Amino acid sequence: MYDHLTIVNHPLVQHKLSLMREKETSTAVFRQLLREISQLLAYEVTRELPMTTKNIETPMVKMDAPVLAGKKLALVSILRAGNGLLDGVLELIPSARVGFVGLYRDEKTLKPVQYYFKVPEAMGDRLVIAVDPMLATGNSSVAAIDLLKSAGAKNIRFLCLLAAPEGVKRMKEAHPDVPIITASLDEKLNEVGYIVPGLGDAGDRMFGTK
Ligand code: URA
Repeated sequence: MYDHLTIVNHPLVQHKLSLMREKETSTAVFRQLLREISQLLAYEVTRELPMTTKNIETPMVKMDAPVLAGKKLALVSILRAGNGLLDGVLELIPSARVGFVGLYRDEKTLKPVQYYFKVPEAMGDRLVIAVDPMLATGNSSVAAIDLLKSAGAKNIRFLCLLAAPEGVKRMKEAHPDVPIITASLDEKLNEVGYIVPGLGDAGDRMFGTK
């Protein structure tokens, strides 16, 4: 079931994640840790980007130097919590194009409702990295990927901080072609769709709204 899932077990990622999980961690520290961790995750999610070479001149000689090939990749933040991951990833890949998918979770049905959608042009020619810290039920992630595919995206990866087994299963059923990269596969969802042990509401913790 987990063959499309990559868990980034790097010690720095795991240490920072444990600090983020602690309920006493302040908003400022949570945000800073998220920024740092998202850069480490971005390193993993871009590991197999296609390369080409460019003829350059160093102060010593001419050489064929490796550079990224193809169109600029597209980062798509699933609002609002996705923005926390987006900032750090953008620091590492500053020339990436950026899109936004606005979905909120109906607290009763746990189903996603769309309120915003704006993505870069030529989605079919780009690697698209959808970012959302929490892969919980998978409902909003699946809906977001549906929208990205409708916009032409063919090569999509999903980057999150925590994943629940339920969300991973749902994503695999709906979008088996979309690899998932995460810092942790947690134990389960609780009865209201929160990840356990988790870190609480990612949006509230990064924006200080509770
Ligand atoms: N969204 C969150 O912010 N936290 C969860 O645990 C699940 C969904």
